[in-house]
Amino acid sequence: MTTIKEVAKLAGVSVATVSRALNNSGYVSKDARKKVEAAVKELNFYPNEVARSLYQKKSKLIGLLLPDIANPFFPLMAKGVEDGVNQRGYSLLLGNVEEDLEKEKDYLKIFSQNNIAGVISAVQGNTKDFPNMPFVLLDRVKSNHDFAVHSDDYTGGMMAAEAIVARSPKEIVVMVGPKEVPSSAVRLAGNQKVLQESHLDYQLFQTTSFKLEVAEETAEQFFEKFPNADSVIASNDVYAMAVMKEALKRGRRIPEDFQIIGYDDMPFSRMVYPGLATIAQPAYEIGYKGAELLCDIFEKGFVENSRIQLPVTLKIRESVRKKDENE
Ligand code: RIB
Repeated sequence: MTTIKEVAKLAGVSVATVSRALNNSGYVSKDARKKVEAAVKELNFYPNEVARSLYQKKSKLIGLLLPDIANPFFPLMAKGVEDGVNQRGYSLLLGNVEEDLEKEKDYLKIFSQNNIAGVISAVQGNTKDFPNMPFVLLDRVKSNHDFAVHSDDYTGGMMAAEAIVARSPKEIVVMVGPKEVPSSAVRLAGNQKVLQESHLDYQLFQTTSFKLEVAEETAEQFFEKFPNADSVIASNDVYAMAVMKEALKRGRRIPEDFQIIGYDDMPFSRMVYPGLATIAQPAYEIGYKGAELLCDIFEKGFVENSRIQLPVTLKIRESVRKKDENE
């Protein structure tokens, strides 16, 4: 493969001059530019993006790791990341990890081999294996990670519980998100603060995944364990919809004798009937802000606010009853 050094030698100029001429960055005399162009043509030199990035010590590529592209929450977030990095002149490489840590390591190796400028990850993030790689975590963020963007899971948990408490619940069950996802415990803490202050009894149902393919099976297990549940705080919208479907199959009327609130506010949540009440996370904005944060890290070298928490909003729809005081 022809190298930039061979081009410089043939043109009779320095490597730096060839680089400036190829990247249109900095002054190059007309004569030098002509010599470079002639040498490039004669040597059939096409600046390889990887070679360019190695020479410049950074590429224009950013890696994005997602836990499960099939879950509607993540494509919305990925769109925010893509728009954010494109705005800053970068392109995106997507890695769908499918909640498989070995896959995550493989993608991080591929990103590293492609001299990626940085990584944005909604997966737990084995950052220790790649100390020189700028990392921003999104959404599923451990409390000790500096560069991160997520939504306010604690307040979201409180809002979901308040919505149920205010609507004549009889048998409350909280569907807890998978233990390995940091936000699950934070949302549960918000649920429990409100439920305990309301002096209401409630049960916990621990789920083991957010993946679509086990949502219906999980809903069946839910009703086997809690056949008389009448008010449910679900771990996310996908699982809430699976439980709603199972309730209807069992002849329950929604919301008269079975009410449920989800979490995320995916596009389908307002399209299904009855509409799913839920806590809306700003998925797109989480992605966009994460892209801005990463680009600031390697363009400015510093950031004012390295950990960004975005607000959530309550969406009341037909899957919950009217409020006690005639909402
Ligand atoms: O629905 C997928 C869940 O995992 C969402 O609640 C989101 O926060 C992600 O972490």
